[in-house]
Amino acid sequence: MLKVLIFYFSRTGNTEKMARAVAEGARTVEGVEVEMKYQTTPEELAGFDAIIIGTPTYHHDMSADMKNLLEETAVKNINLEDKIGAAFGSYGWSGEAPKLVLEILKIKFRMHSIEPPLIIKYEPDEKGLASCRELGKKVSEQLRSFKS
Ligand SMILES: Cc1cc2nc3c(=O)[nH]c(=O)nc-3n(C[C@H](O)[C@H](O)[C@H](O)COP(=O)(O)O)c2cc1C
Repeated sequence: MLKVLIFYFSRTGNTEKMARAVAEGARTVEGVEVEMKYQTTPEELAGFDAIIIGTPTYHHDMSADMKNLLEETAVKNINLEDKIGAAFGSYGWSGEAPKLVLEILKIKFRMHSIEPPLIIKYEPDEKGLASCRELGKKVSEQLRSFKS
């Protein structure tokens, strides 16, 4: 079974709604197991084939939890090379957090990034949720074609 992780943070629930829809989309592909987590460790990250990170933008930045995890993963030299990486998140006016995360996954951890990051203003509507499902499905499909 190929394993996809959706690791996310959400303070007021908007990114969480996105995360649930991303998971739904990712689960439509056969042979892929999808887990959603609100907390994880660098060692756990290494056990997944694809990592999708969800973070809202607060103060032009990603959440502190997300930053700590990425930092700890780098310090511990956890190898994420060649895994698939994607990012998404809700925002209000600038929305840079998912872009920052994806850049780190791609450049620092040498993962295959799915571009562009998906950002949605405040609460996702039906169209937004459909884009989230599409992102999840795309990650699972790429993983399947990549690993076969
Ligand atoms: C204190 C505060 C700071 C914020 N800073 C930003 C920001 O710098 N850029 C931006 O695009 N949105 C900003 N926002 C808006 C949030 O990203 C937006 O409300 C988002 O939907 C929150 O997602 P969540 O429900 O997943 O926590 C901020 C909101 C608050 C309350």
